[in-house]
Amino acid sequence: MTAGHNSLFIPGPTNLPRRLRLAMDIGLEDQRAPDFPPFVLKLFADLKKVFKTATGQVFIFPGSGTGGWEAAITNTLSPGDKVLASRFGQFSHLWIDLCQRHGLEVEAIDVEWGEGVPVELYAERLAADKEHKIKAVLACHNETATGVTSDIAGVRKALDAAKHPAMLYVDGVSSIASIDFRMDEWGVDLAVSGSQKGFMLPTGLAIVAASQKALEAYKTAKCPRCFFDFGDMMRSNKDGYFPYTPATTLLRGLQASVDMLLEEGLENVFARHHRLAEGVRRAVDAWGLELCAKEPKWYSDTVSAICVPEGFNGNDVAKLAYLRYNLSLGLGLSKVAGKVFRIGHLGSLNELMVLSALSGAEMAMRDLGIQVEAGSGVAAAQEHYRATARPVDMSRAATAAM
Ligand SMILES: Cc1ncc(COP(=O)(O)O)c(C=O)c1O
Repeated sequence: MTAGHNSLFIPGPTNLPRRLRLAMDIGLEDQRAPDFPPFVLKLFADLKKVFKTATGQVFIFPGSGTGGWEAAITNTLSPGDKVLASRFGQFSHLWIDLCQRHGLEVEAIDVEWGEGVPVELYAERLAADKEHKIKAVLACHNETATGVTSDIAGVRKALDAAKHPAMLYVDGVSSIASIDFRMDEWGVDLAVSGSQKGFMLPTGLAIVAASQKALEAYKTAKCPRCFFDFGDMMRSNKDGYFPYTPATTLLRGLQASVDMLLEEGLENVFARHHRLAEGVRRAVDAWGLELCAKEPKWYSDTVSAICVPEGFNGNDVAKLAYLRYNLSLGLGLSKVAGKVFRIGHLGSLNELMVLSALSGAEMAMRDLGIQVEAGSGVAAAQEHYRATARPVDMSRAATAAM
């Protein structure tokens, strides 16, 4: 597999755009240099725009999304604190597991995989909690294992309706910078992301935003923490430095990533993800297959988990696609292992890139004997992209469509 390139369609890491690669193709630098702070302070200010927060504070830790979960939890809660959460996929499950290992008491609601945060049940539990024992409410915005997006604004409404003071924690690892996310408007107290999905970078950064209420909770939170301590970070970050050696190369990449997102415009980024995702959904329909997501309201614009027919194994589709066509698709995880394969459609992507993934998935399925009509999914997606293409001024001199 030396000719051509691997087509990376797992739901993170995503494609590394050339601009970001070049931004990181620099010598290593002095993280205590006098001209380092202006760069760092601008990066924090720009990240707030991506999280859509004016009053929150952004933290950047070396780590991945899992480290971001841990930072959010340990800085704001104490062992024995009660947490309301729901489990409907591998990532919502792992976050619950992390809370339990930190000694929190998790009231976990099990939901069928393919659905999302059960807002009505949250509303009931919060209304019933008259003594306000629940300190934190967890919501996985985009469950990457099943391709399900949840209604975070709805969770905020449930908290407000119950006049409940619990803080709202959102896993935005596969949503922030790709799908609409509004930290301040939705009253999110802790928002967690990572560098390798919507931010289009290598893995290596956990990016967490905390509200003023969360920072107040930090003062009394007793969960043990050191590497992820908000206080150490705040003391150094305010002057544009870090309490330990930062991943300077990734930080340079992150500034370039945020520049790309803001130049395209966040709303345009979200619309692009939606349009590309809709093409994938048309393809799934044309194949006669179903998504793991049970209803359109749960459909994710960053990842589609596609159910394979009885008697076939979704992981074989991904394996064959990789070995024969150098196409990386996502495997089914945990409860849905073998039942689905996943197409990640997030990050730096356009129509033809998505069509190549659909084409490879179609070939791999047919090679395995899955009865999908040759070209059917690709054609359905093509027609969607053609019908929704932006108008082009044909009188303009032919230049690359950048
Ligand atoms: C929704 C979600 N949350 C958390 C994580 C964990 O992030 P990481 O693998 O970067 O630690 C992932 C990883 O894919 C994810 O998709």
